[in-house]
Amino acid sequence: MTVLKPKPVSASAIDGQVYKVFPNDLNAHHTAFGGMIMAKCDRLSLVVAERHSGKVCVTASVDSMHFRAPAKDGDTLIFKTAINRAWRSSMEIGVKVLAENSYTGDHKHIVSAYFTFVALDEFGKPIDVPEILPVSAEETRRYEEADIRRQQRLKNREAMANYRATRGG
Ligand SMILES: CC(C)(COP(=O)(O)OP(=O)(O)OC[C@H]1O[C@@H](n2cnc3c(N)ncnc32)[C@H](O)[C@@H]1OP(=O)(O)O)[C@@H](O)C(=O)NCCC(=O)NCCS
Repeated sequence: MTVLKPKPVSASAIDGQVYKVFPNDLNAHHTAFGGMIMAKCDRLSLVVAERHSGKVCVTASVDSMHFRAPAKDGDTLIFKTAINRAWRSSMEIGVKVLAENSYTGDHKHIVSAYFTFVALDEFGKPIDVPEILPVSAEETRRYEEADIRRQQRLKNREAMANYRATRGG
């Protein structure tokens, strides 16, 4: 079995990808459409997962996607995306989105989310990925917290499977 060398968070992170909001990005409430922002978060997180693993990855789940404030027409969205932790074949990627008024320089934090990606081999089966090497205190906090969320995800999956088994499928 090959032992994969742990990688630092900085090797795959995307810090500051920008997207200018135009009228075709708005919902009926005239604020930025949440689905558009979600799709961008998913795509950028995928790049982080594939950079980290060096493999084709798929989104396994998204949790804690919180829309904290709206973005407006003309705002500049700033996406910050980094890997929090890797397990056997899965990785948790955290995303934070800011909306910047580029004329005044004001920023607001509009979205936070955690994506889980799974790396696949050439047969489409989950394959081992390198571990993370947290360096800063912030990276260490995210690394520890990611495991708490994973335990919760596994617990939820198990509870749901048990419930379905008791209902006969
Ligand atoms: C994600 C997927 C590959 C997992 O396959 P699987 O046969 O369930 O694999 P396993 O049970 O062996 O789990 C593999 C890993 O995925 C993780 N995983 C599986 N389902 C998960 C979920 N819903 N949420 C978080 N992690 C999940 C497991 O915890 C495991 O992690 P580990 O290897 O780090 O311990 C499979 O469910 C799949 O292909 N889903 C569809 C993905 C997709 O189409 N995404 C949208 C388009 S990109």
